[in-house]
Amino acid sequence: MSTSSGAIGRFDDKARESFEHVGQTTVYRGELLRHPVYTRVLHWMVALFFFLALFTGFAIYLPWLFRWFTPFFGGGPLSRVMHPWFGVGFVFFFGLQALNWLQPMIWTAADSRWIRNMGKIVSGKEKMDPPDTGFFNAGQKFQFWEIVGGSVAYLITGIIMWAGAGTFGRIAVAISYVVHDISALIMLGGIFIHIYESTFGQPGTFQAIVRGAVSEAWAWTFHPAWYKQVTGRDPQQACEEARRQMTTASKP
Ligand code: HEM
Repeated sequence: MSTSSGAIGRFDDKARESFEHVGQTTVYRGELLRHPVYTRVLHWMVALFFFLALFTGFAIYLPWLFRWFTPFFGGGPLSRVMHPWFGVGFVFFFGLQALNWLQPMIWTAADSRWIRNMGKIVSGKEKMDPPDTGFFNAGQKFQFWEIVGGSVAYLITGIIMWAGAGTFGRIAVAISYVVHDISALIMLGGIFIHIYESTFGQPGTFQAIVRGAVSEAWAWTFHPAWYKQVTGRDPQQACEEARRQMTTASKP
């Protein structure tokens, strides 16, 4: 994926290059490169710290219900100590991921059209996503920007709660608790949808963030404009051609 220009782009390109020595991405015939090693490592670090922060957070937020999480983190007091550090880890790795995905996450007119037609797309009435759907669709971009907003909220409110009323005053700490918890609940709801869409909702997506490659059929179905950009081929034509070949091959 091409990254942003300027200092961010240079930093991101350098990081991406260094990570190519750490792991590899095999792209077989009929597949396209989706996410390089650097992007995949960042995504899984984000996910790891998100769940660590979530489990320790729930143990603090609703101890009567989630106390049983605490032994995994060395007990209640240690869970309380670890939670802000897991949060810092989450914000740090998501910050890098945000820089990595900044360019493809920019909102376009095609995204506004996608949102207007969301009903038809999500219900599966349309077999393929609209032809102008690029590397990420509007739903993915919406969630990305929600996580960016949530991360900023976590960072500010987290620091206020961590330093405490002695530094920021009781009112600031009380407001921070509410904003922090609401942000966590919104993000949690979004993550359920994200996990569903990345696995069962859109079959073939999970391998994008595990192996880094996707099938061409996946690309022309869910991200036709991206397919056209990387292959130079018309997604509709490619789909029909593949269908014809399958029909011919299945004839006795
Ligand atoms: C076990 C849980 C998870 C699974 C199975 C999963 C799966 C995936 C997959 C397959 C993609 C690539 C989608 C594509 O290339 O089109 C992706 C992207 C992404 N993931 Fe995750 N993910 C998980 C957890 C998380 C968590 C915890 C976060 C953040 C809190 C997160 C944030 C994102 C974002 C922002 C993207 C890019 C946009 C999108 O596809 O929605 N993921 N994930």
